[in-house]
Amino acid sequence: MKAFTSKTFWIETWGCQMNELDTQRMAGQLMQSGMLPTREVEDADLILLNSCSVRAKAENKVFSQLGRYRQLKRTNPDLLIGLCGCVAQQVGESALDRNPDLDFVLGPARVGELSEILERRRFGERVVATGFPEERHFDIDTISRAGAYKGMVTAIEGCDKNCTFCIVPFTRGPERCRPMEEIVAEVEHLVEYGFLEIELLGQTVNHWRQPEGRWDFADLLDRVARVPGVERLRFVTSYPRDFSPRMVEQFARHSNICPYLHLPVQSGSDRILKRMGRGYTVEAFLQLVDQLRQARPGIALSTDFIIGFPGETKEDFQATISLVEDVEFASIYAFKYSPRPGTAAVNLPNPVDDGIASQRLQQVLALQERIQRSLNEKLVGSEMEVLVTGWGEAAQLQSGRTACHRIVHFPAEPAARPLGSIAPVVIEKANPHSLLGRQPLLQ
Ligand code: SAH
Ligand code: F3S
Repeated sequence: MKAFTSKTFWIETWGCQMNELDTQRMAGQLMQSGMLPTREVEDADLILLNSCSVRAKAENKVFSQLGRYRQLKRTNPDLLIGLCGCVAQQVGESALDRNPDLDFVLGPARVGELSEILERRRFGERVVATGFPEERHFDIDTISRAGAYKGMVTAIEGCDKNCTFCIVPFTRGPERCRPMEEIVAEVEHLVEYGFLEIELLGQTVNHWRQPEGRWDFADLLDRVARVPGVERLRFVTSYPRDFSPRMVEQFARHSNICPYLHLPVQSGSDRILKRMGRGYTVEAFLQLVDQLRQARPGIALSTDFIIGFPGETKEDFQATISLVEDVEFASIYAFKYSPRPGTAAVNLPNPVDDGIASQRLQQVLALQERIQRSLNEKLVGSEMEVLVTGWGEAAQLQSGRTACHRIVHFPAEPAARPLGSIAPVVIEKANPHSLLGRQPLLQ
């Protein structure tokens, strides 16, 4: 039995940082209305599934979770369940028809309307709030940042690119840039609150432009990096073609811009890049990598690959392998191509056999594992600054991220470090996916 009568909520989040921030926005609205988060889903009076639809697997997961949670309505008939995020936008009203236990559907562009939708549900309506209204609620005071160690700030919503494989432009709608004044005000607010790390968000964040103005993302970076108290500045995700020399320059100018960049390349073959509609060549990508490394020696680069895109031959895949060998990314996210409804790529000929795609995926991941191990081994003996984000699974181990975004575990000795603070750590051991270190002895 619950000791208090407050209503409680549970939010499950899949996918990218934009979804993470949307979860914080929904939690904020609920807490403002007097609801509290619960540690056990079984105790929840409201369950929100904040879904991702970038690959079919992610989409299937949310529906299987929905199937599981609807059972909870038997013991708590007042329980409400909402489908949120990109799958909500993608399937819309049909989700209510197919799932009689679903109470509402809330798309990513309508997150600010959650309280209103719950109110309407109380009067019996099963609301479908999808689409992309001109007027959108975005109230920075109702974002629950509790538990977060970095302050995420939206720079752009939506995406106007037409990558032939991608569903995001359909689920998150057209690109909309927030004005610089609004972004800077939110950053200042977060710094005042105590955040040392700021992350600017957008599907193509470096395509940001001041609405009806002349500033571009280089100006935004320059401005935000100058906000006193911003110790670490990150931004995600950058579109290679939109990365200008002025943006590269900011890495040389501002030491608080983290020496880390996520730059999704998708394939090492020009032929495949063309079929993907990416609008750049491998050579242009490599030139950008060189410029970045000149501006900030040692910068860690990460990327995304889609393996087994329709028409990918052995030679195309070999080109991807060569690119991974040449660039030596600090990390990669590689997934098999997944056909998404409504995207142009579903009509492309020559699908790659699933077994071959799996084999190629394993090959690229194994190569990357070797590269990562050797890159990480070079860091042994160095002292790195770690932003402490939590406790490891092993007793007395804390964990955090370096400025170059590597995960570090270290014993909480001589003292435990507060979450959200920056601790010096001497690296003693390297694994492909993490580093192990110790706090330096006090002088
Ligand atoms: N601009 C965003 C893109 C969001 S999708 C970003 O770069 O983060 C994130 C990644 O998912 C893409 O970079 C791509 O590698 C992968 N992805 C997107 N659609 C996919 C699909 N249909 N199949 C497999 N992977 C996909
Ligand atoms: Fe998707 Fe391409 Fe935009 S990957 S999010 S359509 S940049």
